[in-house]
Amino acid sequence: MGIESIKVQDNLYYLGVNDRQTEFFENMWPLPYGVAYNSYLITGEKTCLMDTVKVSKSDEFVNSVKNLLKDRKLDYLVIHHIEPDHSGAIPQILDLYPEVKIVGNKKTRSMLNDYYEIDSESFVEVKDGDTLDLGDRKLTFYLTAMVHWPESMVSYDEENKILFSQDIFGGFGTCDGGIFDDEINYEVRRSEFRRYYTNIVGKYSQMAQRAIARLSSLDIKIICPVHGFVWRKHPSKIVEDYTKWATYEVEEGVVIAYASMYGNTETMADHLARYLAQEGVKNIEMYDVSKTHSSYIISSCWDKKALVLGSCTYNNKVYPVMDNLLNLLKMQKLKNHVVSVFGSFGWSGGSVKDLKQFVEDGNFETTETVVEAKGRMKEDDDLALKQMAKEIAQKIKN
Ligand code: FEO
Repeated sequence: MGIESIKVQDNLYYLGVNDRQTEFFENMWPLPYGVAYNSYLITGEKTCLMDTVKVSKSDEFVNSVKNLLKDRKLDYLVIHHIEPDHSGAIPQILDLYPEVKIVGNKKTRSMLNDYYEIDSESFVEVKDGDTLDLGDRKLTFYLTAMVHWPESMVSYDEENKILFSQDIFGGFGTCDGGIFDDEINYEVRRSEFRRYYTNIVGKYSQMAQRAIARLSSLDIKIICPVHGFVWRKHPSKIVEDYTKWATYEVEEGVVIAYASMYGNTETMADHLARYLAQEGVKNIEMYDVSKTHSSYIISSCWDKKALVLGSCTYNNKVYPVMDNLLNLLKMQKLKNHVVSVFGSFGWSGGSVKDLKQFVEDGNFETTETVVEAKGRMKEDDDLALKQMAKEIAQKIKN
């Protein structure tokens, strides 16, 4: 027996599925709390399905569509975003409703063919600002290229003030009973939303800024994203957070991410953290890169003003796990940060040189002091760490 249909409003249903089996989103970002793939079904004068779900959940999803539609046909399928976590069930939907008209933009059409070899003659191609008349509802489409993929778009139901926002305003985590923002405690779930934003959308923050600015001119009462919750009580909450993350707004705080094999670099990190606390920095988070997945470190440092990277040397280079973090930070285009570096080596250096190169390539503001210890740190290194803490504290307080 299925769960009672979840109504967003008359003739509009939530059709999300929870994925607690997949370990990694895009096969690289951990999902300890799972993820939800949301779809919506309009059942007014015309019927219209808004996106689908990942193929692994398509049977469950298609059953829900059938249960809601009963003997009605499906008139439209809108594809806001073709990434397979939302398009995986399209072939099954087409098998079941071969007459359905697929709605997307020009890029959607070619990508639908690339991914599924579907080139439907009844494809309805929409451009930015075009509308789709569903009788008792009208959808207006806005292209939001690169948030998250080139074909990404959103749709807006002006009469009912609903935004179907695809990936924008989404987050990691399943919908555990609570589907709507007034049924959950967002403060508990917020870090998984920030991790989703910084890991998945962060790289495209410039485009996200533009998209959010444009959408903010709309009168929005309900946001229906394809991940996370339906925002019907306080949609401004998620809009504010997304705006903050997309504009690289930072607060006073320091993230120290270090790589250490035998504890020498870790000791340096501990001393630095203590000196920062003595300088009055209260918001300090420290991570061993070999233990904490980069996904969390990226999320944590995104809205803290300072990032300190410390690494031991491995084969005359920065430690490989730290190198992975550096590559991901470069890929996500971290900005507006003070980045300081320190490290250690056994017989010839390498790690600090690589870390300094990362700072230079990213054009980050940095501290004058860089600390590089040979073997175990000595008194001079300790004094230098104390000096580095002073410089960081000054910079983040200014
Ligand atoms: Fe949720 Fe970009 O797919």
